[in-house]
Amino acid sequence: MLCIFGMLFFLPHILAFEFDPYHKFTKLNLPPGGPIGPESVALDRFNKGPYVGVSDGRILKYQPKVGFVEFAYTAPNRNKTLCDGVSDINLGPICGRIFGISFDSVTGDLYLADTFHGLFVVGPKGGQATLIANSAGGVRFNFLSGVDVNPITREVYFTDASQTFDLRNVIRGNVVPDSSGRLIKYNPTTKEVKVVLDGLPNPVGPANSHNGTFLLYSENSNKRITKYWLQGLKAHTSEVILNLPGNPAKIKRAPKFGEFWVAAKIIVQHPPSVTPFGYKFNSLGKVLIRKALRRQYSKNTIVNVLQEYNVNGGTLFVGSREASYAGKFTKW
Ligand SMILES: *[C@@H]1O[C@H](CO)[C@@H](O)[C@H](O)[C@H]1NC(C)=O
Ligand SMILES: *[C@@H]1O[C@H](CO)[C@@H](O)[C@H](O)[C@H]1NC(C)=O
Repeated sequence: MLCIFGMLFFLPHILAFEFDPYHKFTKLNLPPGGPIGPESVALDRFNKGPYVGVSDGRILKYQPKVGFVEFAYTAPNRNKTLCDGVSDINLGPICGRIFGISFDSVTGDLYLADTFHGLFVVGPKGGQATLIANSAGGVRFNFLSGVDVNPITREVYFTDASQTFDLRNVIRGNVVPDSSGRLIKYNPTTKEVKVVLDGLPNPVGPANSHNGTFLLYSENSNKRITKYWLQGLKAHTSEVILNLPGNPAKIKRAPKFGEFWVAAKIIVQHPPSVTPFGYKFNSLGKVLIRKALRRQYSKNTIVNVLQEYNVNGGTLFVGSREASYAGKFTKW
C-alpha cells in the first residue's frame, strides 16, 4: 500500500525530466596506495580545486597536471606517519574524517565538518584548521554530516546526524535510525554557536537557498528532503518537499537560482544491490534530472555528493565515500 502511494507520488516527476547535459566523465584519481573516499568536492572562490575530504582525515586539493596534494587537516596533533594514506575508520577519532566542506566566498575561508572532532575553519593557505566548536547547548557533537555557508548572511549551518550512532556504526551496518539529530548554526561575527532544530531524524546536508531564505536537509532513512524556512512568513517552520525512492545524502546548491543536487542510493533487497543516483531538483521539490551513476561508480558503491559549477561550460563533481577517485562530469 505504502509502496503504491510512493510510486504514484513519484510518477509525475519522472514524466517531466529535463535533458541531462553531463556526459563526459573523468576520474580524478587520489594518490595511489593512499587514502580513499572523497566525501566532499568543492571549488574555491577562484574556481581552483576541487578540494576533497578523504579517509585519512585530510583535505586534498586537486592541481591540474599534478593531482591531489595536501591542503588542510583538522585533528589536533594529527600524526602524519600514522595517519597519511589510511582508510581504517577506527583511526577516524585520531586522524579525523572531514565529511562536509563549504567555502565562504567573501573571505575564502573554508569551513570543515569533521564528523568526529567538530566544526573547524581554515584560511585560504590551508594547514592546521582551527576548532570552532565540538558541542552546542551543552551536548557534544557525535556525527557531523555536512556544512554550508549561507550565501547572504554568511552564517554557517551544519548538521549532527545522531547522538546514538556515528560513522563507525554506519560502516559496520549496525544503525538503528532515530530522531536525535540537530541543525546547528555558527555566526562568524558574534562567534555564537546555536542549536536551531533538535530531534531531527538523522539529518544530512544541509544546503541554504540562493537568496538565504530557507535551507534544505536530507532525512536519510526517511528518504525525503525537508525545507526549513529561515525568513519570511513561514520562518521557523518546516515542510517536506520531496520524497525519493532512495536514501538521500548531501544536498548542494546548483548554479541556477532555486536548483539543487542531492546524492542518493537505491537499495534493492532481491537480489541485494545498491545503486547510486544523483537528483537535480528545484525549491518546490520537483525533480528535474535523475542521473544514474551505475556506469561511473561500480555496483554497490555509494555516492555522497554532487556539486555543480558554472566553470568550463558546466562541471558536475561527484564525491563518494567508497571510491578511489573524485568524479568530474562535463558536457563534452
Ligand atoms: C606517530 O605514529 C608512528 C607510527 O605509528 C609512531 O611510531 C610514532 O611514535 C607516532 N608519533 C607520535 C608523536 O606519537
Ligand atoms: C527567495 O527566493 C524564493 C524562491 O526560491 C522566493 O519565493 C522569495 O520571494 C525570495 N525572497 C527574497 C527575499 O528575495
